[in-house]
Amino acid sequence: MTDRARSAALELLTRVRTDDAYANVVMPSILVAHGCEGRDAAFAVEVGYGTLRMQGFLDAVLQRCVTREWDRVEYEVRDLLRLGAYQLLFMRVPPHAAIDTTCELARRHGDAGRVGFINAVLRKVSQHDRSAWIDELGVADPITDEQWSVRESHPDWVVRELRRALPDPTQLGPVLEADNIAARPVLTALDGDRDALVTATGGQPGRWSPRAVELTGGSPGTVAAVIDGSAIVQDEGSQLVALALAAATVDPPEAAWLDLCAGRGGKAALLARIAGERNIGLVAVELHEHRASLMRRVLPDTVSVFVGDARARPWGNQFFDRVLLDAPCSGLGALRRRPEARWRRSAADLAPLQALQVDLLDAGVGATRSGGVIGYATCSPVVEETSEVVEEVLARRSDVVVEDARPLFPSGMELGKGPWVQLWPHIHGTDAMFFALLRRR
Ligand SMILES: C[S@@+](CC[C@H](N)C(=O)[O-])C[C@H]1O[C@@H](n2cnc3c(N)ncnc32)[C@H](O)[C@@H]1O
Repeated sequence: MTDRARSAALELLTRVRTDDAYANVVMPSILVAHGCEGRDAAFAVEVGYGTLRMQGFLDAVLQRCVTREWDRVEYEVRDLLRLGAYQLLFMRVPPHAAIDTTCELARRHGDAGRVGFINAVLRKVSQHDRSAWIDELGVADPITDEQWSVRESHPDWVVRELRRALPDPTQLGPVLEADNIAARPVLTALDGDRDALVTATGGQPGRWSPRAVELTGGSPGTVAAVIDGSAIVQDEGSQLVALALAAATVDPPEAAWLDLCAGRGGKAALLARIAGERNIGLVAVELHEHRASLMRRVLPDTVSVFVGDARARPWGNQFFDRVLLDAPCSGLGALRRRPEARWRRSAADLAPLQALQVDLLDAGVGATRSGGVIGYATCSPVVEETSEVVEEVLARRSDVVVEDARPLFPSGMELGKGPWVQLWPHIHGTDAMFFALLRRR
């Protein structure tokens, strides 16, 4: 594999560290800038994303191979060592190639003085394979959260939150393992013609959503249907949430639906299609202009878009038949798709997020007409962001009730005891989306 691919992976790590960049947002332009295509691009993505994902495990190994505190090693050298160690322990790169190319990368990137150190540390790493390192670190049979944290490369607090959210503690290992396997891109056939999209892409029908097509190769950005706007990239869990809200029973007539936090418009695009088929309007709100401008690209002109804080009710005095709150959240349910996301947040983020989620849900209930429904969704399974938010709003307001959301999801899904739905990557093969259905009295 060429040096281009490794240089691209190193730049990815640098951008994530110094600019707080989102890996999957910046990687396409990094690949172009380094002239990576085909196998080079695939290698750069595998080593770059994999290194970000497995950083916790790699750091535990590397700490054993340096004499000083790992945190005191210079940032640039840490990036190089992580890249080299990932290739040694997680890929089939021969040890001499992983070590020599990392040293060469260091030389080219101005760390020539550190080449001897990098060479010596990576040689120590290469003395064991991954499973021998797992034994060496004492995490072969993990019991405590700290052991799971090292073994499956998740921050301690994330392990703790996932354990709390899971219906059964024996599922901790499977969910952590699922987070470490990159998910294939999934498309939504917005026009509902899934078979045509399967034929056009060579993909396969999704497991649950009647509009889902899972791509088996290639880049979703080059799919003609994505370019012409008849399909969007969207995890099946997100599709199911939008479809569940649309499937809830609401007495007719219906005039307008609201998406309170529409982001780049993924769920709004699907809701707009379904609402349009029923001659119903859609209003979409988003706090940030840059996201709203991306949203306008995927939504039909008939959707009214407001840029502003949904808590200030920019839609005025209008009341809606169906309201979606896909709340800003920690994103811990989408770790398969966001390689560095687990390291971005901390436990201290949960309390302010919860306060915001409660206020937004309160605003959503306030915007719903009597008899109308509110779908509360997060791409996080963390209970502070899911059931606790719903319970807080139910405690605050006497004009809303929670209903069993499970019948709104495809039959055959294992959905626990309800009334809300928590999807899981290791059970359903989707992101860990949460969905609760509330109804305004
Ligand atoms: C989970 S994302 C929405 C994703 C979107 N529904 C989709 O399917 O593509 C949450 C969005 O809420 C926005 N947001 C955060 N605080 C907000 C507020 N007070 N009012 C409106 N939008 C807000 C964020 O900018 C973010 O884009």
